Amino acid sequence: MEEIVGLCKRRGFIFPSSEIYGGYNGFYDYGPLGVELRNNIKQAWWRDMVLRRDDIEGLDSTIIMHPDIWKASGHVDGFSDPMVDCRESKLRYRADQLFFAPVIVAGETIGYVSVVECPEQQEIAEKAAADIKRKAAKQGTLEPIVLKDYTESKPEEYDLVPSPATGKPGSLTAPREFKLMFETKVGPLADESAVAYLRPETAQGIFANYKNIVDTGRVKIPFGIAQIGKAFRNEITPRNFIFRSREFEQMEIEYFISPSADWKTLHREWIDTCIDWLVSIGLPREDISEDIHPEDKLAFYSRATTDLMFQFPHGEQELWGVACRGDYDLMQHQKHSGKSMTIFDEASKEKFVPHVIEPSLGVDRTLLAVLTAAYTQDEVPNDKGVAEKRLVLKFSPKIAPVKAAIFPLLKNKPELVERAQALYKKLQRRWNVFYDASGAIGRRYRRQDEIGTPFGITIDFDTIEKDGTVTLRDRDTCEQRRVTEDELIQFLEEQIDG
Ligand code: GAP
Repeated sequence: MEEIVGLCKRRGFIFPSSEIYGGYNGFYDYGPLGVELRNNIKQAWWRDMVLRRDDIEGLDSTIIMHPDIWKASGHVDGFSDPMVDCRESKLRYRADQLFFAPVIVAGETIGYVSVVECPEQQEIAEKAAADIKRKAAKQGTLEPIVLKDYTESKPEEYDLVPSPATGKPGSLTAPREFKLMFETKVGPLADESAVAYLRPETAQGIFANYKNIVDTGRVKIPFGIAQIGKAFRNEITPRNFIFRSREFEQMEIEYFISPSADWKTLHREWIDTCIDWLVSIGLPREDISEDIHPEDKLAFYSRATTDLMFQFPHGEQELWGVACRGDYDLMQHQKHSGKSMTIFDEASKEKFVPHVIEPSLGVDRTLLAVLTAAYTQDEVPNDKGVAEKRLVLKFSPKIAPVKAAIFPLLKNKPELVERAQALYKKLQRRWNVFYDASGAIGRRYRRQDEIGTPFGITIDFDTIEKDGTVTLRDRDTCEQRRVTEDELIQFLEEQIDG
């Protein structure tokens, strides 16, 4: 992760927000290459999920909506995480990410250990327990350390569990619910009636507009509404770079189906569609797995949820949630707004409130997954044929920030420069391409490899003196071949837009 964060900063993908003021935890800015990559991910998703399908319509709703929407959706009362504060260090932890265990020697509890969730948490806790036993000079067998998360702590344990910040007991509070929605005030009044929320998900904007789209569009069941947009959550512990941030973007679909539809099959189809899409933008299939939520852990209205997990640098974590939410959301809005959410289905001649399948994906998390999958260190021959280490981002051409780089072989030969400039201008009309005339050609290739540009195009003397062909270099194999301008454009079209 550190290497990815370093590369992102160095090459202008992602910067900490407000960096000149020391940064702002949980917020990130996207630089020149990051914004291209981000836009390309969003465009690919929109193209595949909305433009290339007949059953999905697009929407762009506001970030701040009527506060009653969040009452109806259950967010005002229920959208919170359990947190625990350390009174001494002032640090705050998510209670379900803070693990603790009693240290029991010869049947007697001689202290407690605590550890913040991490892959090595068991090892760390066992080492700390052995230290406690040694310091207490207690004879006897140390019983196995069984970690529980802090939401399971009992009141009599609050003063005994050490704070991970200070290592001493007595400063942790009881777990408390911490509201995740950011509040703001709308209008001139400063009282409670002015309270509004920054949306914590784009989904509710879809439900709130469902009737508008049914009434004005030509949709028929089953159909979906898609939206890409910002979401905000006051995460207690934003971490792992852009994986969990406080301002992020979502790409969500609510797919409306008949209550009598075979939802299990449709759910499976959506899971497969989502996996195929992730693979189509360059994520290795073997790094994607399915986490099926057990029935007893589902919300009461939910029929099934499968999370698509990805091997991030910090472990296997949720990337895309695909939930079957029944008719809960539409029914809630029908109840709170007093507006009917029924639809007339021509095919079955029935009226009903549809059920939904909800594939919900984070743009920033997808970008981190894409960076993780693309980040490669290998060896390639340099100009003199000697093997040299290189850092390369193997982005799919579909989402690569820069699609191709155009190089005149030599910068002091006007005829090469002129020809290269002409090709650059031509390609620039369609794609984000880059012109680079400075330095040895090998170094120019390497600079592009590091930002993931899939194709290098060199204009040399054969181009101007012989057949007009250019050299096309493949970033991953470093293979070069000569192609005509027409062949080049056709090839780029297939690779980038295909
Ligand atoms: N409407 C359903 C919903 O919002 P979610 O599981 O809370 O479900 C969906 O969020 C997706 O949004 C997640 O799978 C993840 O990709 C992304 N996401 C959620 N919280 C995030 C955060 N704090 N930072 C970045 N991405 C986040």
